[in-house]
Amino acid sequence: MYLKIISELGNIDDLPTIPPILVKLNEILADPESSAEDVASLIKEDQVLTTRLLKLVNSAYYGFTRKITTVTHAVVILGFRNVKNIVLTAKTFDLYKSSYTKIRRIFDVNLLWQHSLGVAVIAKKIGELVRYPDQETLFTGGLIHDIGKIVEIKCLFDYMPRIFELVRDQNISMWQAEQSVFNITHAEIGKVLGDMWDFPLILEHIVAYHHYPHLSEDFSQQVAIVHIANSLCREMKIGSGGDLLIPVIEDGAWERAGLEPSVKEHIIKESQKSISELLPVFA
Ligand SMILES: [Fe+2]
Ligand SMILES: [Fe+2]
Repeated sequence: MYLKIISELGNIDDLPTIPPILVKLNEILADPESSAEDVASLIKEDQVLTTRLLKLVNSAYYGFTRKITTVTHAVVILGFRNVKNIVLTAKTFDLYKSSYTKIRRIFDVNLLWQHSLGVAVIAKKIGELVRYPDQETLFTGGLIHDIGKIVEIKCLFDYMPRIFELVRDQNISMWQAEQSVFNITHAEIGKVLGDMWDFPLILEHIVAYHHYPHLSEDFSQQVAIVHIANSLCREMKIGSGGDLLIPVIEDGAWERAGLEPSVKEHIIKESQKSISELLPVFA
């Protein structure tokens, strides 16, 4: 249905296709016989990805004491699931970068990337606090929550000057401007990409409901965590989501996340350092 809206309004052919390496990686990971060596040889086919993975695993963010020099060692130390999240992160970064030039005159996509990385770090930090078992998925969810904005730049580019004009002149948020122009927002638009890229259901919910976490019945805690992270990141003035408003944290979201609102300052303080360690890895 949303795909139909996008194709009626814009150019569906510009919808980013799933990176082939993700498809292959999914196949390898689905096979119980696969080894770290199998994953490593796939990654090594992609030079940029290899460099980025090693840079990331050796960054202050991970804080391993010993230098990791081979991809196989990185795969072993990070685990399969983390590697998958890192590949998705790196490919998402490429996607952000590839839309930079197109919209340059209207909006700096680097700021949206910084915002996304900030939300990822904060979501993971909240996950630590509530002892959520799969914190890397929260990180990835934070990273891609606004991916619909990239799809807009790619497929609905002709409408973007109008969107940013509305945001500026009426001091409203991106999603409000999108709603009035497209009748849907970047959340639903991002879900289309999630379907095509075969995101796990939890990531699809994070993308689709990050502005209204109560709408997710199956993943209410995880979506609430990213929802809170999104607001805190804007409050910390890290990057930009395209408008100047700090999203209001929905009633009940702190409770769904499993936290008291009083920990807010603690989360902000703890996340600041990690964000500054991670930003240079993806620049
Ligand atoms: Fe958003
Ligand atoms: Fe956001």
